[in-house]
Amino acid sequence: MTSERSLVLVKPDGFARGLTGEVLRRIEAKGYRLVALSVLTASPEMLHRHYAEHEGKPFFEALVEFMSSGPLTAAVIEGERCIEGFRSLAGATDPTLAPPGSIRGDLGRDWGEGVQKNIVHGSDSPESAAREIGIWFPQL
Ligand code: PPS
Repeated sequence: MTSERSLVLVKPDGFARGLTGEVLRRIEAKGYRLVALSVLTASPEMLHRHYAEHEGKPFFEALVEFMSSGPLTAAVIEGERCIEGFRSLAGATDPTLAPPGSIRGDLGRDWGEGVQKNIVHGSDSPESAAREIGIWFPQL
């Protein structure tokens, strides 16, 4: 298995709660390397590209609005099987159901607004990672 890369976002809820350092600490403690790091407020256009596969789903517009509502941290991480490894670190999409020990399980909860405030995003496949890294870090 060769090393791979994944796109990680600390979403606006995680950023506003000051959880960027804790997320990055867990990534580094796991042994993955940071390749790129940026703090930015994403435009709706950028998020339409990022979430293109979810266009048309009932939560799509609310997700884009939330994700563009404030600053977030974008990172590229690297390591063998880091795509599935980070998704395991993150835990299930719904923070209420994410297991203790995971980022969402330890740090997330239901805030009465559905599951969109779930702290982090991680690429779900090598194809998604390559596409997403191209959107957030075109210089790489
Ligand atoms: S799906 O429908 O199975 O593809 O959903 P999933 O892969 O779990 O999630 C895709 C992204 O959409 C977000 N999501 C939601 N946002 C708001 N409301 C609802 N109900 C909702 N369901 C899913 C979810 O957090 C995923 O975002 P990322 O950034 O990939 O984590």
